[in-house]
Amino acid sequence: MRYRLMHISDLHAGPPFNPRIAELVAQQAHDMQPDLLVISGDLVQRADFARQWRAITAYLATLPQPQLIVPGNHDVPLFNPVNRLFFSLSRYRRYISTNINPVFELPGLAVVGGNTAHGLTVDGGYLSREQQAAFEHIFAGFDQDTCKVAVMHHPPLETPGDRRNRAITNANAAIQMLDRCDVELVLCGHVHISYIGNTLDVRNDLRRGTIVCQSGTTTSRRGHGRERGLNSFNVIEIDRRTIRILQNLYQPNVGRFVPVAEHVYPRRTSGVDELPAAERVLEP
Ligand SMILES: [Fe+2]
Ligand SMILES: [Fe+2]
Repeated sequence: MRYRLMHISDLHAGPPFNPRIAELVAQQAHDMQPDLLVISGDLVQRADFARQWRAITAYLATLPQPQLIVPGNHDVPLFNPVNRLFFSLSRYRRYISTNINPVFELPGLAVVGGNTAHGLTVDGGYLSREQQAAFEHIFAGFDQDTCKVAVMHHPPLETPGDRRNRAITNANAAIQMLDRCDVELVLCGHVHISYIGNTLDVRNDLRRGTIVCQSGTTTSRRGHGRERGLNSFNVIEIDRRTIRILQNLYQPNVGRFVPVAEHVYPRRTSGVDELPAAERVLEP
């Protein structure tokens, strides 16, 4: 097996959307021919406006298939409190998908999406008990050699250097759930800063931990921090031995997205992390 995923996020159709960058993303996506295109939420800027949903639907049609999409907090209506509380994902369901837990599988690979965006939250999301149970139920259907990848909009880790903590409010529960499910990699967005980390960075009581791969905003002008005004996406290559993540950043001087960092991790099936923890520590 050798698979390539392209991971984009925070498209924000509406005033912040940059059509020139979006067209370039489509071109580079087709050049790359990924096995799966993952889109980790915030498809529109303001979910209340049908024209933004029509615009993002038209844009998604220009991108390669298959696609796996999850909703973000901007995909929940803001202005109408009834819609916000009781029909928070009605527009998402109408224009994108009625399936909030999409599953994509190939031999040796399972990618599962979940929802962290809810009507009561303005910015921070959370993984409901039902959503955690859905992840556990779906991942339990795959054997231990399968590379399990979760997709959700809000990250399970705080982003270093961000002004405030934008991780999901029940990050501890989410991190433990991902570990219980043997999820090797989680793909997320929301912060508009790309970041690669590991849940073992914040908890040392996990069995194996989960790689966290966060994309910045791929097509909007709302990049934050060191990505202010910039756009990014990730490319992930998975085989039996390694997970390789290439962070791509738009470079104005060359007029395209180029890889700016590469992170390579051993797969669980490689046997590297099956050594007892003590044997991995070098004696002083
Ligand atoms: Fe966003
Ligand atoms: Fe967001």
